[in-house]
Amino acid sequence: MNKHNSIRNQAWECDLRSDTFTSPDEGMRTAMATAIVGDDVYGEDPTVNLLEKRLASLLGKEEGVFFPSGTQSNLSAVMAHCGRGEEIIVGKNYHVYWDEASGASVLAGISLWPVETGKDGSISPSSVEKAIKEDDPHHASSRLLCLENTVGGKAISLKKMQDVSYIARKNNLSIHLDGARFFNAVTALSCKPEELANCADSVSICLSKGLGTPLGTVLVGSSKFIRKARRNRKILGGSMRQVGVVAAAGHYALDYNISSLAEDHKRAEYFAKELRGMDIGHVESGTNMVFFTPLDGQTEKLRSHLEKYSVKIGDQKPSIRMVLHRDISDDSLEKAINGFKTFYK
Ligand SMILES: Cc1ncc(COP(=O)(O)O)c(C=O)c1O
Repeated sequence: MNKHNSIRNQAWECDLRSDTFTSPDEGMRTAMATAIVGDDVYGEDPTVNLLEKRLASLLGKEEGVFFPSGTQSNLSAVMAHCGRGEEIIVGKNYHVYWDEASGASVLAGISLWPVETGKDGSISPSSVEKAIKEDDPHHASSRLLCLENTVGGKAISLKKMQDVSYIARKNNLSIHLDGARFFNAVTALSCKPEELANCADSVSICLSKGLGTPLGTVLVGSSKFIRKARRNRKILGGSMRQVGVVAAAGHYALDYNISSLAEDHKRAEYFAKELRGMDIGHVESGTNMVFFTPLDGQTEKLRSHLEKYSVKIGDQKPSIRMVLHRDISDDSLEKAINGFKTFYK
């Protein structure tokens, strides 16, 4: 939990909109301020180089490359896997398909083939098999399977990840894993980072979600793949200079913030249990997320009521997504629970 409110410009005491609403705490800021830096475009920033190596080795891959955002990391990855006229098979609710403005199509001539996902966010092996196109000049060429874990807070089991990647590999597809919340998944599945990463050829890991850095994503994969992805980062304008100041936040997050993800998960479970106990709507939860669909559909009124308690929720409908993160303490969560109670009393 971030105890350094004095250096945060946080409008809300309990901001449940996303785990991107964390602010770097004092320890992280000190690490950033004292980072040894160099020009990363020349490959001379030791703090960046070490972070790339560190995550690659943790996930059992050859190399890594540092990006300003998860979106750019995913796009550089799919551009490294696919050429123009090639196709990505991807979950229809996955970020790469739904939330990245079709960058792969707009900028790289890659088509996206969305498939249904299960309740746990997984793609079944049979839907991958069905989505693979015949080698026919009329069709795009199926080239890549894009996975995600966690999906909407749900951690997809290792077995399901392994089964779907087995089918993809059998059919000569490459596999990219959008692991924006990779360590939430690893925490929930109680597995080794390498075990989950083995299900894919490349993995994108965001440091700016539950891990609490202000920005930064590391993409890992084989040396040949990372070389292409680094070139794509240049094309997309994402190469940075003395960015060790940000990579230092990443090192700090890996040192100190992975272990507290389990606390966010516990708080989400507790929050979901409290909401279920009020019998006011449908509640689902997984890792650090809670989804609440109010029976009365009074989302707008609920939102303005909660604001009086300094609690902020998003504007999704009909189901409101609420995300626990390191800037939400037990006390601030109690404020939210109390806000719900007083609204529905
Ligand atoms: C699953 C997933 N993938 C990728 C991203 C993209 O990350 P960024 O916002 O850093 O571009 C997000 C952002 O919320 C995400 O939730």
